[in-house]
Amino acid sequence: MSDIRLRAMERSDWPEVADLIYVSLNYWSVANGRPTFFAGGPDATHVFCDVYETLDPGCCLVAESTKTGRLMGSCFYRERELHLALGIMTVHPVYFGQGVGRALLGFICEAADRAGKPLRLVSSAMNLDSFSLYTRAGFVPRLTYQDMVLPVPAEGLRAELPVSERVRPAAAGDVDAMAAIEIEVSGIIRTKDYRHFVENPDGLWHVSVIEDSRGGLDGFLASIGHPLCNMIGPGVARTEEQAAALLLAELNQYSGRMPLFLVPVHCRELVQLAYGWGARNCELHVAQIRGDTQPFRGVSLPTFMPETG
Ligand SMILES: CC(C)(COP(=O)(O)OP(=O)(O)OC[C@H]1O[C@@H](n2cnc3c(N)ncnc32)[C@H](O)[C@@H]1OP(=O)(O)O)[C@@H](O)C(=O)NCCC(=O)NCCS
Repeated sequence: MSDIRLRAMERSDWPEVADLIYVSLNYWSVANGRPTFFAGGPDATHVFCDVYETLDPGCCLVAESTKTGRLMGSCFYRERELHLALGIMTVHPVYFGQGVGRALLGFICEAADRAGKPLRLVSSAMNLDSFSLYTRAGFVPRLTYQDMVLPVPAEGLRAELPVSERVRPAAAGDVDAMAAIEIEVSGIIRTKDYRHFVENPDGLWHVSVIEDSRGGLDGFLASIGHPLCNMIGPGVARTEEQAAALLLAELNQYSGRMPLFLVPVHCRELVQLAYGWGARNCELHVAQIRGDTQPFRGVSLPTFMPETG
């Protein structure tokens, strides 16, 4: 399509981008025989602009029609120490299948190539439109996740895990150790994100860490408690048992709510524990990576907010 102009989102575009995210995902979902994705009107999806722009101002790309001035699509991205991450990508349904998604993705792939870093994201295994968009652009699915939701009882989950005694809320001094464990497990570092979650300036975040026996960490797990997006992650742990103890601690931050979390499909012990606590499957996602990467060496628990595979 020749009438696409790519530019950075401006503050005045936020309401239109929130509308776009709301309409695009709801339309796609209903057109594919599923319930709407978001409810409550497009004010709800404002949270994407709030979170991504707070962390990385100027890193939302929009596609504007040169004919109408209307926004055709948008995509958030951010650069970290060793990778670039792509956040929510949406095209207005009027423009589906006309090359808008490819144009947005192409711009961000070029930014990754210029930086000499891999580009990572988490894509739905049940959405072949986005899956194909990414794999055509050279992304490789590296790890599959079960998306699970779990209604946390008002009194919290009463489970007991032996390593839970080493779990505690994160403190500002944990940031370097969080980086050390995430690079070991997932091959990435995102210091800015860890600091933001731990400092929690907007009151949305919580982070638990699990201490190792050498003064470092065996893992960490963050979560967001926004009304639209109550999600556990991102986090990593060396073992499934440690990941389970972190997951339990974060779930218990949300008594009476139903947080979403993603567990690697091959983590049998963790998946069975989650079922035992009342979790149910609701989706499947894949970590897609374009560029060189190490294999995952432990348990990675990603999130869509802010997204990183
Ligand atoms: C997914 C989405 C962003 C794609 O954007 P789009 O502008 O419609 O996509 P494009 O027209 O640029 O390109 C899609 C590409 O995927 C290819 N494609 C689509 N379905 C395919 C399939 N089943 N097999 C192989 N390729 C396929 C198309 O051929 C095209 O590639 P090409 O241009 O090289 O031919 C858009 O459909 C959307 O916004 N969906 C709802 C929101 C969403 O799902 N977002 C992603 C998750 S957050």
